[in-house]
Amino acid sequence: MGEKFLITGGAGFIGSAFCRFLINKTNNKAVIVDKFSYGSNKNSLSTIKNSKRVKIYAEDLCEYEAIKKILIKENPDKIIHFAAETHVDHSIENPKKFFINNLLATFNLLEIARHYYKTYHKNKKFLFHHVSTDEVFGDSFDQSVKSTESSAYLPNSPYSATKAGSDHLVRAWGKTFCLPVTISYSSNNFGSFQANDKLIPKVIKNAIEEKTIPIYGDGLQKRNWIYVDDNVSAIYKIATKSSAGEKYNIAGINEITNIDVVKMICKKIDYYFLKKYKILRQSHKLIRFVNDRVAHDKVYSIDSSKIRKKLKWNEVENFESNLEKTIKWYFENSDLDLPKTQEINSNYLNISKTKENGNFLNI
Ligand SMILES: NC(=O)c1ccc[n+]([C@@H]2O[C@H](COP(=O)([O-])OP(=O)(O)OC[C@H]3O[C@@H](n4cnc5c(N)ncnc54)[C@H](O)[C@@H]3O)[C@@H](O)[C@H]2O)c1
Repeated sequence: MGEKFLITGGAGFIGSAFCRFLINKTNNKAVIVDKFSYGSNKNSLSTIKNSKRVKIYAEDLCEYEAIKKILIKENPDKIIHFAAETHVDHSIENPKKFFINNLLATFNLLEIARHYYKTYHKNKKFLFHHVSTDEVFGDSFDQSVKSTESSAYLPNSPYSATKAGSDHLVRAWGKTFCLPVTISYSSNNFGSFQANDKLIPKVIKNAIEEKTIPIYGDGLQKRNWIYVDDNVSAIYKIATKSSAGEKYNIAGINEITNIDVVKMICKKIDYYFLKKYKILRQSHKLIRFVNDRVAHDKVYSIDSSKIRKKLKWNEVENFESNLEKTIKWYFENSDLDLPKTQEINSNYLNISKTKENGNFLNI
């Protein structure tokens, strides 16, 4: 039988993808701990929640005694720490929430984990993996090189600052208390079950519903994108193959401006409406440039060669084909406010590869 993973934030976007991977692709067990807040989506666990290998606890990591009890009762082999407040705009509106859920919650979990590791867990394979972000390295705009795992931390938002702080705690608990820890820094994730207020789901939804598509500033902010399932497979590799004390960047092979991502989505959705309903859409006309976010980083750029070389990790498909899969998923699974003039059939979007042009929406 496999190992037992305790997954914090397992009802969120990436955490739930990790849990589905664990149950569908491995023989491991998942103990999910999540406080089921705004970032959670219960549907993201619906396909696995009845599995005998899954246990779900609705609990806040700030509840020290309750989390300690869960750890001792469940006796996990690994902890994968996804739980966090994650929306940069919300961190500007209410930074304290981020201080509590990203720093204090991680502090609690580390304290409980070191007590648990020392007192109860004799298994040498124990690992605490902390999920961080490329945003802790700050804006790469002025830097001529990509950030590596040992680049300086230069966080600019309350979100990235609290994530950076939690990374430092994890590192210190590894060094001072010999807790076996690893950290991953991933770029922007996209895929199914992401909250509707993040860039890609929001643009898909608004383009389909013919609502304005707001873009911060000039839209020239450059980001690297990683398909959520690729990030999950990288994290699993780290959790099962890496030695303790290691840190890994996880990123796709693409750097693309926000405006180009938005235009790409608009084009794919227009193509669909034209093919299926002979309706001419010009979704790019919905784009509105709005005041830029305060302290908005222009470029995030990380070097993911370490994980590719050391753990032989690679993404499965490219950005465009993953984007098409994502659009298809939102068409089929979201509550979309579709224009009433169109007859919508639930199977209407069939995305597949065509011979002529590689990846394309094939209706
Ligand atoms: N989404 C991205 O593009 C991205 C990129 C890089 C890194 N990350 C990191 O990956 C992790 C997961 O991100 P996500 O996009 O899945 O976030 P998400 O907002 O979708 O999910 C976070 C989950 O954590 C839970 N949570 C928050 N505070 C908690 C607490 N105190 N106790 C218990 N549960 C709590 C929430 O209820 C939610 O279900 C985060 O640590 C984030 O910083 C995300």
